[in-house]
Amino acid sequence: MRTTVGIVGGGPAGLLLARLLHQAGVDCVVLESRDRAYVEQRQRAGILEQGTVDVLRSCGAGERMDREGLVHDGIELHFDGRRHRVDFPALTGGRSVMVYAQTEVVKDLIALQSVEGPPLLFEARVDAVEGADTDSPVIRFTHSGREQTLHCDYVVGCDGFHGVARHAIPEGVRRTFERVYPYSWLGILADVAPSNDELIYAHSERGFALLSMRSPTVSRLYLQVGNDTDPHAWSDERIWDELDARFALKGGGWKLERGPITSKSVTPMRSFVAEPMRYGRVLLAGDAAHIVPPTGAKGLNLAVADVVVLARAFAHLHTTGSTELLDAYSDTCLRRVWRAEHFSYFMTTTLHPDPAQSPFDTRLQIAQLDRIASSRAAATELAENYTGLPIG
Ligand code: FAD
Ligand code: DHB
Repeated sequence: MRTTVGIVGGGPAGLLLARLLHQAGVDCVVLESRDRAYVEQRQRAGILEQGTVDVLRSCGAGERMDREGLVHDGIELHFDGRRHRVDFPALTGGRSVMVYAQTEVVKDLIALQSVEGPPLLFEARVDAVEGADTDSPVIRFTHSGREQTLHCDYVVGCDGFHGVARHAIPEGVRRTFERVYPYSWLGILADVAPSNDELIYAHSERGFALLSMRSPTVSRLYLQVGNDTDPHAWSDERIWDELDARFALKGGGWKLERGPITSKSVTPMRSFVAEPMRYGRVLLAGDAAHIVPPTGAKGLNLAVADVVVLARAFAHLHTTGSTELLDAYSDTCLRRVWRAEHFSYFMTTTLHPDPAQSPFDTRLQIAQLDRIASSRAAATELAENYTGLPIG
């Protein structure tokens, strides 16, 4: 088998890249190790930046998002028993975000691809990417029990943090930067209408909590927990009681509604960047190249920004024969990646008490949150980063 661009991984990065390349007339094939149902049901992100929404619309994948997604014009911060709203459009010249689950983005992209192409193979596990420094790299994969080879002009690794494509970049060339946090998120889905119209990010001495949503009838909530927490060690009642305690406001005035919990899972928190994002004819995009802790909702949006830059570079090569944009790919993306790494680190370390931190550290976190609540400049910095910086 032969193609122009071999794409490893059919998560949001791989699927969107395939869609954009297809529209630009560039041949590609997507190889995804899991089956379709698994990929469509994997619970992950929920917040799309304005730029992500614009890209999905312009590539023809925005119809259901525009019908079912919820536009959000702000978030609330709870800290020190107080609440403060950050008004995005007022601070950013009209920008907002969209609540539309990653599962739905993935379903919409797969539906389009299964009708219009390009080829997307499920249960095709990539074992290795070879020949990054040759003119014709190959992808070795196993499909229907048979070992096969896909010959490519370029290979793009969109295979997430645990993927194999990153290893095609020799160790002597690759530099990695990493930070692991001393806490995780226990995430739940509950069949109950969200108790607030907007997301609530809550700092409390008991730990961080987040109220989010998937639809007008389904709430998504997260609790900071210790690493290695077993989600099933938390009874439903204990989860709701802890959420109540962490969202509590001095003087009350707000109540979290409870409902049946339909899913519980634990996610560790990590910051990670692999540089460069290109070596020879192998390029990395999305979680294959970088991970952010989820506070601030940047991961999926960064993956989208990478593939927009990459699709433009392949389209430029296709129409002009010039590799100029491909050559600039890694530097172009890494600048934005590091900005998002900083924002995600900032949101995480400002909102989560480290189990080892002192009362002094807690006061500093509250002082920082108070600054956001009282200074337009500080609130603008948060709003610009949250709604997303230009894709470039
Ligand atoms: P992935 O989604 O990991 O996709 C990689 C794909 O490659 C997978 O389908 C995998 O099966 C496949 N694959 C792996 N290895 C192989 C192989 N060897 N062969 C073939 N295929 C392979 N981001 C946000 O922007 N906003 C949020 O609100 C947000 N919230 C989050 C909440 C949680 C709890 C978590 C865990 C993440 C959250 N994120 C959020 C991050 C976001 O989900 C990821 O950044 C996003 O999934 C990255 O997409 P990707 O396509 O790069 O990687
Ligand atoms: C969600 C996840 C996030 O990391 C975040 O900052 C906001 C919302 C979510 O899954 O809904």
